[in-house]
Amino acid sequence: MHDDKIKRLYSMKTSAESGGGPDRIDAQHAKGKLTARERIDLLLDSGSFIEIDKYVMHRADESESKKYYGDGVITGFGSINGRKVFVYAYDFTILGGSLGEMAGRKIAKIMDHALKVGAPLIGILDSGGARIQEGVMSLDGYGDIFYRNTLASGVIPQITASIGPCAGGAVYSPAMTDFVIMVENVGQMFVTGPEVVKEVLSQDVSFEELGGARTHATKSGVAHFVASDEYDCMDKIKKLLSFLPQNNTETTAVVNTNDDPNRIEKGFLDLLPENPYEQYDMKQIIKLLVDNSDFFEIHEHFAENIIVGFARMNGRTIGIVANQPMYLAGALDINSSNKAARFIRFCDSFNISIVTLVDTPGYLPGADQEHNGIIRHGSKLLYAYCEATVPKITCIIGKAYGGAYIAMSSKNLRADMNYAWPTAEIAVLGPEAAITILHRKDLKNSPNAIATKKKLAKEFRDKFANPYIAAEKGIIDLVIDPMDTRPTIIRALEILVNKRQSGPWKKHGNINL
Ligand code: HXC
Repeated sequence: MHDDKIKRLYSMKTSAESGGGPDRIDAQHAKGKLTARERIDLLLDSGSFIEIDKYVMHRADESESKKYYGDGVITGFGSINGRKVFVYAYDFTILGGSLGEMAGRKIAKIMDHALKVGAPLIGILDSGGARIQEGVMSLDGYGDIFYRNTLASGVIPQITASIGPCAGGAVYSPAMTDFVIMVENVGQMFVTGPEVVKEVLSQDVSFEELGGARTHATKSGVAHFVASDEYDCMDKIKKLLSFLPQNNTETTAVVNTNDDPNRIEKGFLDLLPENPYEQYDMKQIIKLLVDNSDFFEIHEHFAENIIVGFARMNGRTIGIVANQPMYLAGALDINSSNKAARFIRFCDSFNISIVTLVDTPGYLPGADQEHNGIIRHGSKLLYAYCEATVPKITCIIGKAYGGAYIAMSSKNLRADMNYAWPTAEIAVLGPEAAITILHRKDLKNSPNAIATKKKLAKEFRDKFANPYIAAEKGIIDLVIDPMDTRPTIIRALEILVNKRQSGPWKKHGNINL
């Protein structure tokens, strides 16, 4: 009964699941890459994937490009550690994973589902960009995807893995998602490839140099993570997801981490040098602070003068923003302001409390920074903190000078709890800079200017560079013993868990992009 019809279905299924055919699959493997189906299997819980639009084909003239079931992208849904997710994976074995009209529609459909259901969306990219044969209809497909990336922004987490070339139109959708993971020596992202660059600009640049994982993780900031291989990439996606809620109406899962919330930590002070000009690694402070030292850093290799990432405190996800005195002495510059502002906005969108650790001498001076827009970019950090209504807890560890004091989640930017260690230095300028301005004439006339400056700077530091003036004014809520930092922050997070705050009605703000 109906044998032929069932046979036909299975024949189509086999054909769809063999992508561009055995030769192209071999070629994909020979490049050290998995196929789109193998990638989905690796990412999702075993047997959980349900494919949709498996038999979609392109509508272009068959003589222009061969027809394949699925049209170069696999879409569907499944679960990761039991949580619902929607997935699409470009299949490079079919027309180079290029995006035509129907592939565009498939991705748009899966994005619509993810939005309706309120579940994370994960895209796996390996694509030659717009399908040249389909002309404007492939551009039309990209337009639909970009529109949905924008609608989904701040509603569901959107994650992209770049595991192969992502050329032309294939780069802008990832850029609009929340997190981009690139696989080292495999993922490449560029708007125009090396051949075009050579032709138009006569510049010789390799694929890796132009748009490889290291380039985007260190220079452009497009990549939030670098994975050593595809297995590491999928592990990173799973770990990232574990810190996030399903959507903007939910909170993150509370995990039993078995780390004592009342843990007194005497090691903090050992990490902080006596001399405020000596470097130390803020990541060590973060690791002592959070549950089980488990800190999941984002943008690890980009703008290293600021650290951002997820961790848990008493089992709840927090977003950490911290200055890193090891790089540029922890000064704020253009890239660090962009990096932190985007992270803060992500946390605020998805109900993740923000803990800010401060040790910064100020905004980085210099013509280079001024000409490239430190005013424009630096103010994004102010905007992001002001706008964020999630619980915000700040702890000043060392320097907090000038505009950087304000920008690093000060009271005025609607931080809820502002703590400081006794080692905090809160002032308009650092002692040396302040003395140079306040005592310009004295120093000019002094026979021993260096010694005088040193003496005056010490007097300034003793008098002004401490947390107590701010504590007197109530803009620091409490000066705490460093060893109490973890229980103090955890209690603040617990008390703020039901915080509700809103601003005036508006369509949307006009962040100074
Ligand atoms: C149609 C494409 C394609 C494309 C690759 N293919 N890109 N088909 N449209 N955009 C096909 C190839 O013809 C080839 O088919 C197969 O896919 C595999 O490609 P290869 O070149 O053999 O593979 P490889 O050597 O690994 O190089 C991969 C690549 C390269 C780096 C991605 O193919 C490439 O440079 N492609 C073009 C990239 C590009 O310029 N895209 C921009 C499009 S414009 P056969 O049958 O020969 O095996 C764009 C604008 C949109 O995207 C803007 C929106 C904002």
